[in-house]
Amino acid sequence: MQISMSVNGNEVTRDIEPRVLLVHFIREELGLTGTHWGCDTSNCGTCVVLMDGQPVKSCTVLAAMADGHEIRTVEGLASNGALDPVQQGFMEEHGLQCGFCTPGMMLTARALLDKNPHPDDGEIRQAISGQICRCTGYATIVRSVQWAANHPVSSAATGDAA
Ligand code: FES
Ligand code: FES
Repeated sequence: MQISMSVNGNEVTRDIEPRVLLVHFIREELGLTGTHWGCDTSNCGTCVVLMDGQPVKSCTVLAAMADGHEIRTVEGLASNGALDPVQQGFMEEHGLQCGFCTPGMMLTARALLDKNPHPDDGEIRQAISGQICRCTGYATIVRSVQWAANHPVSSAATGDAA
């Protein structure tokens, strides 16, 4: 079957097997390996991408279900050479250790901040509750998202020194 979707602002059309999962379509067909593949059983959340702005576990979604939708992966977070504030926040607050959970965490954080620009710690923890950090760095992840909330426009985008 043929499917078309917007991925990070680019229209893509491919012929696929109907059984192909979105995570495999993104990684293997499109070569966007920033989307990680962990448990394959809907538990870890490392495969999270945004579909029409909402976090989805891409191992639970058929690629065919994304036909006609907008997909955003971690490769689409930065724009015009500027990091998304969430990416910068993870750098500033050391929000990653091995980095395996990081793409999904950052996309969930972006979706949260788009809906709720000033979440409290509990709201951040609720938003990422479907995702596991095997390095258990949750405190720094929460601080990273708070940093992004406090710096809604990245310094690189504005040209500010810091
Ligand atoms: Fe999708 Fe773990 S790989 S939830
Ligand atoms: Fe290692 Fe989260 S930083 S899994």
